[in-house]
Amino acid sequence: MALIAPSLLSADFLRLEDEIEMINNSEADWFHLDVMDGRFVPNISFGLPVIQAIHSKAKKVLDVHLMILEPEKYVTEFARAGADILSVHIEASPHLHRTIQTIHNEGMKAGVAVNPHTPVHLLEDVIADIDLVCLMSVNPGFGGQKFIPHTLKKIEQLKQMILASGSSALIEIDGGVTLDNAATIIAAGADVLVAGNTVFNATAPVDTISRLKKTLS
Ligand code: DX5
Ligand code: ZN
Repeated sequence: MALIAPSLLSADFLRLEDEIEMINNSEADWFHLDVMDGRFVPNISFGLPVIQAIHSKAKKVLDVHLMILEPEKYVTEFARAGADILSVHIEASPHLHRTIQTIHNEGMKAGVAVNPHTPVHLLEDVIADIDLVCLMSVNPGFGGQKFIPHTLKKIEQLKQMILASGSSALIEIDGGVTLDNAATIIAAGADVLVAGNTVFNATAPVDTISRLKKTLS
């Protein structure tokens, strides 16, 4: 069964505590938290104080996805704010191996996020060292976009690479996941489904999470 990680980017920020409680009481596995700096991506979301506040109420793993330039500068701060998993973009990290080591040294799991145009083979030399690959299935920056079908091929390639290397990295799919395409994505080899719009704009979010959770390949 895939892990489900609702993305709070699509939550109602005026009712953030209620939204957190909803996730706490659902079958969701992780909170997916999207940090955007307006430079790496053309949008600005939320940062450290908000994550700290979420951490004080959340009863599940905090999966923090950094869409920022120079992510290595902020690793310690995100650990202090309560992140359990910290993902940095390969496109924003010239010294990726060192950043992964820093994330681990701070006691977090390390993820690497990959934009739609970035080939997964670029992960070959770090795949054994990481815990998660956040494969972007939309161009990062906004919720509610359409799933890019080519991602399915990338999931298969990545799965093969992971198996061949003996890595225990999980494959997380981020962007455009719906109740309609979840089964296909899982069948291709995904381990974690991020869902923003599908969960938070549903009429019955808890039920939607449950249906995503029960989706089989
Ligand atoms: C996009 C973010 C995603 C986003 C997913 O830049 O990284 O996590 O919130 O939202 P949906 O599920 O609505 O595509
Ligand atoms: Zn994300």
